[in-house]
Amino acid sequence: MEKFVINGGIPLNGEVTVSGAKNAALAIIPAAILCNDVCRIENIPVSISDVRYMISTLKYIGANVRFIDKSTIEIDSRNVNSYMITHDMTKHLRASYYFIGALLGRFGRARVAMPGGCYLGPRPIDQHIKGFEALGATISVEDNAIVEADSVKLFGAPVYLDIVSVGATVNIMLAAARAEGLTIIENAAKEPHIVDLANFLNSMGADIRGAGTDVIKIRGKENLHGCTYTIIPDQIEAGTFMVAAAATRGDVIIKNVIPKHLESISTKLVECGADIEEYDEAVRVSMTGRPGRCNIKTMPHPGFPTDMQPQMAVLLSLADGTSLISESIWSNRFKYTEQLLRMGAKITIDGQIAMIHGVEKLKGAPVKADDLRAGAAMIIAGLCAEGRTEIEDIMHIKRGYENVVEKFGNLGADIKMIYTIDPFDINCVG
Ligand code: EPU
Repeated sequence: MEKFVINGGIPLNGEVTVSGAKNAALAIIPAAILCNDVCRIENIPVSISDVRYMISTLKYIGANVRFIDKSTIEIDSRNVNSYMITHDMTKHLRASYYFIGALLGRFGRARVAMPGGCYLGPRPIDQHIKGFEALGATISVEDNAIVEADSVKLFGAPVYLDIVSVGATVNIMLAAARAEGLTIIENAAKEPHIVDLANFLNSMGADIRGAGTDVIKIRGKENLHGCTYTIIPDQIEAGTFMVAAAATRGDVIIKNVIPKHLESISTKLVECGADIEEYDEAVRVSMTGRPGRCNIKTMPHPGFPTDMQPQMAVLLSLADGTSLISESIWSNRFKYTEQLLRMGAKITIDGQIAMIHGVEKLKGAPVKADDLRAGAAMIIAGLCAEGRTEIEDIMHIKRGYENVVEKFGNLGADIKMIYTIDPFDINCVG
């Protein structure tokens, strides 16, 4: 079993470079099959496991993928020959369902097993299905396990999303990029990775306007072509380092970022007493003294991102005063607080609200990563805590963060990965 071991209490100092955006990459990889050509994708976080699974799935349906360097791949979609993806492929991550939209766009049909991914509460796909049906596809879901999508031809249509959904916006954009006529998505998600997907598709010859607003217009094209594209920096990885810098009372320059994408995070950190300097492609975050309290409500972009909520909860656990976090996207995103309680945090949960009474210190403890961002929060907690923290289930963290030990280690953190054998593992022989 792999674990992270952290000896905490060291302020982070120095410079760190953020990788390409996971959630943009997860939409752009399947989008590459919408052309019968070669796409070169730069600044892609190739060592995170979610990206690896998406690349494996591409290969499974016939694409050829070449690794050019540590952040560049080439996807040759000329030999993609299957519209079927099994549970073995999809069970690892949520974004595997983007292959439904991409295969519909390419072949007019798709048979894709239901996706896996972090459990953050129920994750229905009704808005995705509504969008595909509006474009003329017939959708059936067999035993809640396999989505079968079929169409003679896709036609552009208006789609109003009843709920702002990143995944449904992406999936409808993928299918609509090659539908005949105009698709208008209303109440669309506005996250930076939606804009990045639109820019990638437009580089392939698509005609997409309005991404980044809540109305996206897609005029379908009969054919798309290959392109070279650079993925945006990861907003959430950047935010995670920003919060880690402030929570450890350190001073860190975070490079390869788009400061505009970080505004909601910067605003809250400043409210808590951090100093933030913005440069063209970097931010510097420093904090002296104990953080102040603040309240947070998670919202779709440009609101405060739910994917930064657990990390901020760690900082607020150490704040002077009582803070409230209201989670409005996911119904089960406070599970990680049980781990923070083990470290001495004082948090009570009432439905979708966490009340956090700041304490002076956290203490190291054995904890686990319940999901990806919960795992990021455990790292920050371990870095701040007195003594030794061991984090189990780090496979969740590896889904979304590259080179964790190197990146935090270069900032002065005492963090390492160890391999242990669980003596109580009944499958262990010997
Ligand atoms: N929803 C529905 N019906 C749908 C789709 C969504 O009711 O058809 C609901 C969800 O249950 C949720 C809300 O709408 O309550 C928002 O869900 P959304 O579809 O926006 O989330 P997602 O696309 O499944 C993406 C990110 C998540 C991030 C959310 C919210 C990817 C691959 N995942 O998920 O990222 O939390 O948007 O911003 O882009 C992460 O990176 O750690 C992560 C979980």
